[in-house]
Amino acid sequence: MNQYIAAIDQGTTSSRCIIFDHDGSVVSVAQKEHRQFFPRAGWVEHDPEELWLNTREMGAAALAKADLRRQDIAAIGITNQRETTVVWDRTTGKPVHNAIVWQDTRTDRLVEELAGDHGADRYRDATGLPLSTYFAGPKIRWILDNVDGARALAEQGRLAFGTVDSWILWKLTGGLGEDGQEPGVHITDVTNASRTMLMNLETLQWDPQICDEFGIPMSMLPEIRSSSEVYGHARERGPLAGVPIAGILGDQQAATFGQACLSPGEAKNTYGTGNFLLLNTGTKPVRSEHGLLTTVCYRIGEAPAVYALEGSVAVTGSLVQWLRDNLGIIESAGDIEGLAASVPDNGGAYFVPAFSGLFAPRWRPDARGVIAGLTRFVEKGHLARAALEATAYQTREVIEAMHADSGVELSTLKVDGGMVANGLLMQFQADILGVPVVRPVVAETTALGAAYAAGLAVGFWDSEDDIRRNWATGRTWEPAMDEDDRERLYAEWNKAVERTYNWA
Ligand code: G3P
Repeated sequence: MNQYIAAIDQGTTSSRCIIFDHDGSVVSVAQKEHRQFFPRAGWVEHDPEELWLNTREMGAAALAKADLRRQDIAAIGITNQRETTVVWDRTTGKPVHNAIVWQDTRTDRLVEELAGDHGADRYRDATGLPLSTYFAGPKIRWILDNVDGARALAEQGRLAFGTVDSWILWKLTGGLGEDGQEPGVHITDVTNASRTMLMNLETLQWDPQICDEFGIPMSMLPEIRSSSEVYGHARERGPLAGVPIAGILGDQQAATFGQACLSPGEAKNTYGTGNFLLLNTGTKPVRSEHGLLTTVCYRIGEAPAVYALEGSVAVTGSLVQWLRDNLGIIESAGDIEGLAASVPDNGGAYFVPAFSGLFAPRWRPDARGVIAGLTRFVEKGHLARAALEATAYQTREVIEAMHADSGVELSTLKVDGGMVANGLLMQFQADILGVPVVRPVVAETTALGAAYAAGLAVGFWDSEDDIRRNWATGRTWEPAMDEDDRERLYAEWNKAVERTYNWA
């Protein structure tokens, strides 16, 4: 009875359901990729219905794989790709447009207009964020301005906005409320709300003035709740019916929680589609002066919110996918390590994947990708290595900014995410930082964090001490590069980055 927690992780490339036991060990995993739509250069979309159907299917598959029934599940936690924007019609239940994904740059002009004479930091005090195409607010505005009839419907109160957590929660708790059921709940948590640019970081409520300046009717917005409380029950006739949904965290905040970064000064770095380094800064938001974001890390029930400084890097793992799908130099993402290991170094080549401009700490929307340092000597092994190294250099930039903002000197770097299976990258990361890199036994920390949030709300776990107790070192990579090499490589990387500026 009730021996497990199910975590739904609706990410940028796939939807997963992972079931955990009380020790935080993985009992079952089901995963399915969804389609990526690139209608124009710089645009990235997902089909919200597909995200929901895959999520539902993976919930059933994860239960079936471990031969479990819904009675075995104490609660469901949701974690999600953040900022990705869904707008749907409350009366038909249909999205009015595809989801606009966090990487999408179509709002670049709008963002410039909003900045106007105030500059990109116009809303930084209130929201912790610079004006950027990255966040949800400008994406909502784009939908209202560009989808026929959307603004009129929004003004009548018929449209609902949600980041992917809200969309999944609404569907999972009953959607339209057919078959005599109550309609779904329209809720988000503080961490996801903090990525819209519409939430005030201190009040943790929507900011009416910003909503007005963005031209977004507040009737579209979900209610903001904590990251750990019962929001509703799964109403869908199906394998999880009746189970409470009791945790929501944006995926990077979930990974921070799952990595037990529960005290100020503790940080983790997740290597996914992009890279996201979060440093717990405690119950007061710390403003960044070095290109980082101030964001909500988590809020457990009625306890005060905990904040984080975040360095978001747009393109890391997705560069490996690009080498696979657009250049075809590898067949599967896992082949990159072998190809990179076929050469001893980068051969002088540096790959700066500024596909969506550059995010933290530089925030250069005008940047576009370059490969610098090419000679006849360079072959595909060097390009593979340069692509992996790009992830490590970008991480170092963020860590330096983090140090400058907070004074915190990392003594080790806790890592997780898909790319941490790549030993060559992890060794290079330790080398280029000069500190050990540590991977926990359970590397599924994103789903685990959402599971913890849900489990704490229903008493499955008693306190954050359980989380600390469950965390254990899996593998450590010690730095082995000498100082001169480290600094030479990093200086060359910086030269390459400057070549990306003033392009778009
Ligand atoms: O901010 C974007 C981030 O939440 C996406 O994470 O793991 O889906 O690439 P991921």
